[in-house]
Amino acid sequence: PSSTRLEAENAVCQGTVDSDHAGYSGTGFCNTTNAVGASVEWTVNAPTAGSYTLGIRHANGTTVNRPMSVTVNGAVVAAAQAFPGTGAWTTWQTVPVTAALQAGTNTVRLSATTALGGPNIDYLET
Ligand code: GCU
Repeated sequence: PSSTRLEAENAVCQGTVDSDHAGYSGTGFCNTTNAVGASVEWTVNAPTAGSYTLGIRHANGTTVNRPMSVTVNGAVVAAAQAFPGTGAWTTWQTVPVTAALQAGTNTVRLSATTALGGPNIDYLET
């Protein structure tokens, strides 16, 4: 199927929607709070049930990994998906995560596992 892009600024962003680092898609990005549990949550509509690649576009201008758990409909897909430094807050990269989606509505949630919070999150693509 063709890819669908879901902007993080339109998701539930636990933090602030910012636009001060260029290169993002849409109107901004989600700057998650620097805390354990800081999250971004999307509602994803899948045309058919099956395995999807979730592309998570992000920037991390530090040199320290900012892992996040990835859950789909409450089930853990990745307990601590790595989001290493991308070199600059303006350098955006897409991390692929493979996950099963059900047909129709799904909840995809990223949640920071360290006090650093997550990286800046631009979008989720399926
Ligand atoms: C800086 C940067 C933010 C980023 C933050 C962080 O303040 O401007 O975009 O989210 O660092 O370390 O999380």
